[in-house]
Amino acid sequence: MKNKTLVISGATRGIGKAIAERFAKEGINIAFTYNSNEEVANNLAKEWSEKFGIRAKAYKLNILEPETYKDLFKEIDKDFDRVDFFISNAIISGRAVVGGFGPFMRLKPKGLCNIYTATVSAFVVGAQEAAKRMEKIGGGVIISLSSTGNLVYTPNYAGHGTNKAAVETMVKYAACELGNKGIRVNAISGGPIDTDALKAFPNYEAVKAEVEKISPLNRMGEPKDLAGIAYFLCTKEASWITGQTFIVDGGTTFGCKE
Ligand SMILES: NC(=O)c1ccc[n+]([C@@H]2O[C@H](COP(=O)([O-])OP(=O)(O)OC[C@H]3O[C@@H](n4cnc5c(N)ncnc54)[C@H](OP(=O)(O)O)[C@@H]3O)[C@@H](O)[C@H]2O)c1
Repeated sequence: MKNKTLVISGATRGIGKAIAERFAKEGINIAFTYNSNEEVANNLAKEWSEKFGIRAKAYKLNILEPETYKDLFKEIDKDFDRVDFFISNAIISGRAVVGGFGPFMRLKPKGLCNIYTATVSAFVVGAQEAAKRMEKIGGGVIISLSSTGNLVYTPNYAGHGTNKAAVETMVKYAACELGNKGIRVNAISGGPIDTDALKAFPNYEAVKAEVEKISPLNRMGEPKDLAGIAYFLCTKEASWITGQTFIVDGGTTFGCKE
């Protein structure tokens, strides 16, 4: 895996950061994006380069403008000689999800469209650009983050949940059409993971308490709980796995309410 390159969106914190670190530890070069936390991103690039002896560089990206992925990849081409893995991880929050994050009766087209753009369109354009580069080196692996909020009712999550279902289906289509180029495409669907995204839930404490209650493992997920599966899916040991969604949820989807 050494000297390969991972391109990942949103690796300044949370799940993206944990995944990037996991890959960096294996000697994989990291091209990653930030949106608002430029200083944090540049510090991480420096830290990973020094600690793991890899090449790491941060680039600005706004997933509400998916077409900008094209210029982003051109920039990445100048700094990295290949793209082996692409992980669509970044997610929007705050003002951008107003009208998309909330109870059903308060949903509004603009907020819902923003979540579609950030979740599905950004995956599509990023994966297209990555696939063009992967084809040149005989293949690669593409992953989209998803969440079990499309399988179990999660208050306020209708906008995100429906778009996670959509991106999982997009993953299957991409897998069908990219397989003959040696490119595998999968999704990782996480249960509730303790990150800023979840802390932004108005009922964060209640969600946390509920997760601890229904998980047979008695705890909420941590970002690193998704990093191992992401790495595994990029290895040769996963070479016949494509078009799938892997659920990593601490047993919460089935639930253990007594
Ligand atoms: N947390 C959970 O419970 C959970 C569960 C299952 C799946 N997931 C999925 O896992 C992924 C990561 O979630 P997370 O909880 O780790 O998120 P997070 O902690 O909120 O981090 C979000 C990341 O996305 C970036 N970002 C924010 N707005 C952006 C924009 N407009 N354009 C580009 N990048 C932007 C942030 O960059 P800056 O720091 O620069 O702003 C940050 O790196 C998401 O796809 C999420 O749906 C999360």
